Amino acid sequence: MAELCEGEDMKHAPGEKLSWVHMILAHRYQRHMLLTLMDELKNMPPDATADSDAVTKIRGMWKLYHADFKHHAHAEDTIMFSGLKELAEGDEKTKMQEVLDTLAKEHGELGVLEKALQDAFAADFTPENKRTALLDDLRKFAAVYHNHTYDEEHLLLPLAEAIEKGDKKDDAVALQKRVGKYFSSQKELGYGLQAMMELARTHPKDQAIYESSMSWFLRGPITFMTGFSGTSHEFHKLFPAPKEPIEAAFTAALQ
Ligand SMILES: [Fe+2]
Ligand SMILES: [Fe+2]
Repeated sequence: MAELCEGEDMKHAPGEKLSWVHMILAHRYQRHMLLTLMDELKNMPPDATADSDAVTKIRGMWKLYHADFKHHAHAEDTIMFSGLKELAEGDEKTKMQEVLDTLAKEHGELGVLEKALQDAFAADFTPENKRTALLDDLRKFAAVYHNHTYDEEHLLLPLAEAIEKGDKKDDAVALQKRVGKYFSSQKELGYGLQAMMELARTHPKDQAIYESSMSWFLRGPITFMTGFSGTSHEFHKLFPAPKEPIEAAFTAALQ
């Protein structure tokens, strides 16, 4: 498994103009969601029953994470990956194809694990052996997810950024806009920008990345407005913003 120290995956210098920053920050808050969910499941009261508030809360957390994960993977599969494949040229095209093949394989592995988790969260997981098995499966999923996002950030993004610095710059920017449009049309994910901002506050490098993600005069109002989405309240109730960087805790939780 790719080991991450605090902010290590953020390879860019603070303040540097970045592309695809929202993808990196979305991975960050999805790790936060997984970590919070694993903690909740681990600390579930031993006498919790299938219809208890504790179980309802855990199912609500999985539901929100699962929707986020599905939309993220869908936007990558249907817009980002296919778009980058078309834009890559020459030697970069071969490299891009190799990386995209790896990422598609990982999406397939995650899909299998995710379906099993869907069934397990829907079933009664309150008996001790079921809860332990579910936690193990969630850890396995989180480990594959962790490696996958590491590959996207370390293998794919450098290739995507190289395209942006070449002749196809305008096409690359248009592709990013298509991805952004997809997410802004998914009202249930309206908490995304706020989640990115909250996570960014825990690490100076992330903060710089967040600030480079859009013009300062748009950043405040847009982030504020997205806080009124239907699921924003629920997100903040289920996934309180962390006070410290999450990477060390996340890596430890996968052991
Ligand atoms: Fe992905
Ligand atoms: Fe991703």
